[in-house]
Amino acid sequence: MSCRGKLDNLKYLFSPSSIAVIGASRKPGKIGHAIVKNLLEYGFKGKIYPVNPTANEILGLKAYKSILEIPDEVDMAVISIPAEKVLQAIDEAGRKGVKVAVVITSGFSEVGNVDLERRMVELAHKYGMRILGPNIFGIAYTPANMNATFGPKDILKGGIAFITQSGALGIALMGWTLLEEIGLSAIVSMGNMADLDVAEVSQYLADDPNTKVITIYLEGLKEGTGKTFIKLMREVTRKKPVIILKAGRSERGAAAAASHTGSLAGADVIYDAAFRQSGILRAITIEEMFDWARAFALQPLPKGENVVIITNGGGAGVMATDACADYGVNLYTLPDDLKEEFRKCMPWFGSPKNPVDLTGMAVEDNYYKALKVAYSDERIHSIIVLYCRTAILDPMSLAKVIVQAYREAKSEGREKPTVVCMIGGTDVYNAMRYLNREGIPAYPIPERAVASLGALYKYKRYLEKIGEHKTH
Ligand code: ACO
Repeated sequence: MSCRGKLDNLKYLFSPSSIAVIGASRKPGKIGHAIVKNLLEYGFKGKIYPVNPTANEILGLKAYKSILEIPDEVDMAVISIPAEKVLQAIDEAGRKGVKVAVVITSGFSEVGNVDLERRMVELAHKYGMRILGPNIFGIAYTPANMNATFGPKDILKGGIAFITQSGALGIALMGWTLLEEIGLSAIVSMGNMADLDVAEVSQYLADDPNTKVITIYLEGLKEGTGKTFIKLMREVTRKKPVIILKAGRSERGAAAAASHTGSLAGADVIYDAAFRQSGILRAITIEEMFDWARAFALQPLPKGENVVIITNGGGAGVMATDACADYGVNLYTLPDDLKEEFRKCMPWFGSPKNPVDLTGMAVEDNYYKALKVAYSDERIHSIIVLYCRTAILDPMSLAKVIVQAYREAKSEGREKPTVVCMIGGTDVYNAMRYLNREGIPAYPIPERAVASLGALYKYKRYLEKIGEHKTH
């Protein structure tokens, strides 16, 4: 029986009022212990019911011998017991009226137990219950303070949803995103995708007001699901940008993917064409995926094609100019009147062409004035700010000035996509973290800043092509 298309249950996956953890363990170091601990410590707003046949209490919560004993409705069950016990747990969860089961357990189709996996899904569907997994590290949804994973406890909140077919990579990236100030709305581990798949989860997130952009680590789709994937993802990309990192590009990489998640790797060109047809942006590296996602999460889409670069370093300006050509970013040829405006912001030996070179003499005030010109002139649609560390301009002071100019523009309704690149050492790194926290995406090399703006343009042009984006 197919439950595809019934997205109602997915709200219980992201915002359940109550969660039962079947296989909640008393022992620190066990997965069933870590999940309860993360739910508690990340501050889940709903009710948590540990289920364990021999425990009375786990982490201060009353434990139940069976899910059927819980004197309340249960929306979601997280299952962390050995594979041979999972069918019975699914049956009891179904009888209890659980809407969605998050099956952490390994030992299903990924090791050849295809039949067990099929029976599990059939049983769940008999009760109208959906399954996430099996073979996953869980799910987190930050607006509900829900961390139902056995990954790290802390997750920075933000607008990026991250769906991953690789568990270990997903867990590892949870820590990395914290370090990089990348704010997440959701983390969803997909595992074997026995029931719910990437497209259905994306469909739900497309309507989630807390998600601005969807990122996906994908190794492959299941046989026969390609057409539906394209159809559903087209609907998703009408509403939200989607960035996919599709691993297994090479022949040997594809073989590795097939043995990892059992997914159909297929020829890479086919995936490439499918992504293009569905308006999906394809990233090649993790860094690229989150770079672009950061820009989508923090910035509006551009209203037009004219981009200006403001820099204190000629070399950085040249590199950014090359990158603009590489990533389809259109550098605006400044008309004379605008050149005159920019000239007022720089020493006499600066250059008011685009890139606008404020020179190594530039201090906060030069940047501030140039930014004011760029934000207030309607012929300019996006801004790239570059900074090379100099002894006369402290990076944090500059970051504050950029935030100030951006906020002022925003309050006047003149907000424009702005990306920053700062090149230097530790103090520059700290200034970039500050910018990212304050909503302005900042990158350590010009190419990454330009590529991220390029991704906004690519998506904007796609929306225009399908008639979904009005520039005026
Ligand atoms: N109902 C409720 N609780 C039960 C039941 C049951 N039917 N049966 C056993 N339990 C209890 C156990 O008593 C135990 O609690 P205790 O430690 O307090 O005694 C707890 O549930 C866990 O059961 P165990 O038998 O100890 O199972 P264990 O924790 O060793 O393993 C697990 C279960 C984690 C699901 C394991 O089978 C498994 O699949 N591990 C792999 C998980 C994984 O890696 N998933 C992919 C993640 S993605 C990535 O690659 C990182």
